[in-house]
Formats: sequence, structure tokens, C-alpha cells
Amino acid sequence: MYRSDVRDAHDVERGAIVSVVDEAKNFVGQAFYSDQSEIALRFLSTSREIIDRDWWRDLLRQSVERRSAIAKETNAYRLVYSEGDLLPSLIIDVYDGHYVLQSLSQGTDRLQSEIVELMVEEFEPRSISERNDARVRQFEGLELRKGVLFGDAPHEIEITQNAVRLMVGPLSGQKTGAFLDQRENYLAAARVAYGRALDCFTCNGGFALNLAKSCESVIGIDISEEAVASAQRNAELNDARNVEFKTANVFDALREMETAGERFDTIVLDPPAFTKSRATIKSGARGYKEINLRALKLLPPGGVLITCTCSYHLSEEMFLGIIAEAAVDARRRLQIIEKRGQSSDHPVLLGVPETHYLKCVIARVLQ
Ligand SMILES: C[S@@+](CC[C@H](N)C(=O)[O-])C[C@H]1O[C@@H](n2cnc3c(N)ncnc32)[C@H](O)[C@@H]1O
Repeated sequence: MYRSDVRDAHDVERGAIVSVVDEAKNFVGQAFYSDQSEIALRFLSTSREIIDRDWWRDLLRQSVERRSAIAKETNAYRLVYSEGDLLPSLIIDVYDGHYVLQSLSQGTDRLQSEIVELMVEEFEPRSISERNDARVRQFEGLELRKGVLFGDAPHEIEITQNAVRLMVGPLSGQKTGAFLDQRENYLAAARVAYGRALDCFTCNGGFALNLAKSCESVIGIDISEEAVASAQRNAELNDARNVEFKTANVFDALREMETAGERFDTIVLDPPAFTKSRATIKSGARGYKEINLRALKLLPPGGVLITCTCSYHLSEEMFLGIIAEAAVDARRRLQIIEKRGQSSDHPVLLGVPETHYLKCVIARVLQ
């Protein structure tokens, strides 16, 4: 609930859990209160239940229970996904028994040490680290910090996703160490990928290494030398000899490849969010259109495009519109094979569209 909808919050402490009533004094629910963020209230419950240590323990257990099938497939996944698990502003990721947490509001920041205690009691973690260096904390008036809170956290952890081995740095990598949200899209992409493949914005090589199994060759591109170095090490770890990585700006690289007359059978586009606020949707849309247009020009008929946006301000409908415009400009007819979202350990809460941030469209060029 936005600040503009709050009538009266006097004597409420920052980060406190409050009872919310409407103007007629009808009970609405219980929520975290923030005295700084535009999101003044984040709802925890619509009932008058007691929200104490046992309540938190129970919700953590429920999240674990819901991930039991995923935990059999991989040792790295999101255990708690904020609003998606009715635990707003709390993220907990697990990497082979090492836990990484983010407290993204005054409410979860205030309760963090209690949550860490509960994690120790419930999960028997090898370590717990905080990645509270996410910039959204600044909207809450919270400091940015990261570090180890419990146990010994190694600099790097080996994880396995879809039988691909990846090295992850929980305190050094992006987000909480890796992009866990594409795990199921890697598999979907690998199902249709073939021939000569290009993985744009490869980061630590997630798509590239999954595609390597079904493609003759894969080139991964990222602007960050550090990301390319880690992708190269991951290729060695998997003995993937048909994959090479290059440090380059994707915008330039796609243009140069077009000029050089290069062709690919499969192209992945997984850029960073080009629009992080409503105000920049137009300029962000231009960025998405540009890379999709350039990629489509490199794909002959039969070619496969796996194109993503992780911006929650861009709806699936808007994203499909951008891809359609790019296809018209590239003079390609596109068939949508699949419309996907983030992996199922990042569940979307109906009624909270922001929880559906990742869109992944898999399409085939017909003409
Ligand atoms: C969303 S992440 C990609 C995640 C990756 N595909 C995965 O599955 O783990 C975006 C990546 O794009 C890279 N990047 C940002 N701008 C770029 C650009 N102009 N050219 C190439 N890479 C870029 C970042 O370094 C980052 O690794």
C-alpha cells in the first residue's frame, strides 16, 4: 500500500508490524510499516493472528515444504521469494547448504537477527550471509552492507543446475551470487536450440553451458571481463569444448556480426533490466527493440530466438509488442513457441504484478 493511501500513522515506529484499519475502522490486515519508502505498508496477514517467532518459523517451514521437489533437482534455488511466498521484502537463496538473505525493507531489516536465528534452528545451514547491498534498500533509508552472519561462507561454491556445474560467489556475484531465476528457461531453451548458437549477456555462462549440450557450437558474450572469466572457468568445469566466451558490448557485437554477414541458428538475449522505473519505459523499450531487431537479422528461417526481459515495469503484452515491432523491421515472420516467466522457485503472487518480473519468449523464425 502506497504512502499516499495512508491517512494516519502517528506514533508508529519504523519497521514495526501494525494493524491496518480502513476509514470506517474495519480491520484490513497486519503489515510492516516503513516511514521512508513510497511503499508504506507491506501486508503480512489479512487476519488478526499473532505474528511472533512461531509465525515466522511456520512460514519459513511452508516455503521449504513448497520447494521440496525443486530441492531434489538442484542444490541452488530460491527458498523464500518475498511477496511470492507472503513474506514481503525477504529473500532467502540457498547454494549447496550455504544461505544468502536479503532484508529489503525496514520491517525485515529490524527482524533480521531473529530470522537468522530461526534459519540456524530450522535449516542447519553451513553458513548464512547477507547481501543487503541491493539499492532498493536506499528507498527505505537503510544502509547498504554485505557479509557473513553465521558459519564459514566460502568465497566460491559449486552448484549444480540441470546437471551443469557452476561456480558461484555469494558475496561477489550479482544478486545473491547467481541468476537462479533462469534455471527452468535454460532447459526450455536447450529443448529447441540447435546448430550454431549465440548467448548474449551470458554472465557466468548459464544459457551457453545448457545450450552446449544440444548445439554444435556456442559463443557467449558479456561486457564484464569478470563475468566472462567466470563463464570460461565454468566451461572448463563442465569440459564444454564447443563453447567460447568474448568480452564485448552486445549492441556493438550484434551490429558487427550483421556487417560481417554472420548467421546463427539459435540466439539468446538476456539483458539487464533496461527500464527500472515507469519513467524510463520508453527508452528501455528502444533498447529491447534494438537487440531483438539485430538478433533477428542474424537468424535465418528455422532459427530460434530466446528473448528475455527482467524488468517488472514491462508487461508481457508490452514485451511481445516490442518483439513484434522488431520482427516487422527485420522483415521476419515469427512463431511463438513458448511464453515463460521466472523459475517456479520465484512464484508469482496473483494480484501483485511486480512478482512477475521475468518474461522469456521462445520464438522461431518462419520466413
Ligand atoms: C541478466 S544478466 C544475464 C544473466 C545470464 N544470462 C544468466 O543466465 O545467468 C545481464 C548480464 O548482462 C551484462 N551486460 C550488461 N550490459 C551489457 C552490454 N551492453 N553488453 C554485454 N553485456 C552486458 C551484465 O554484465 C550481466 O552479466
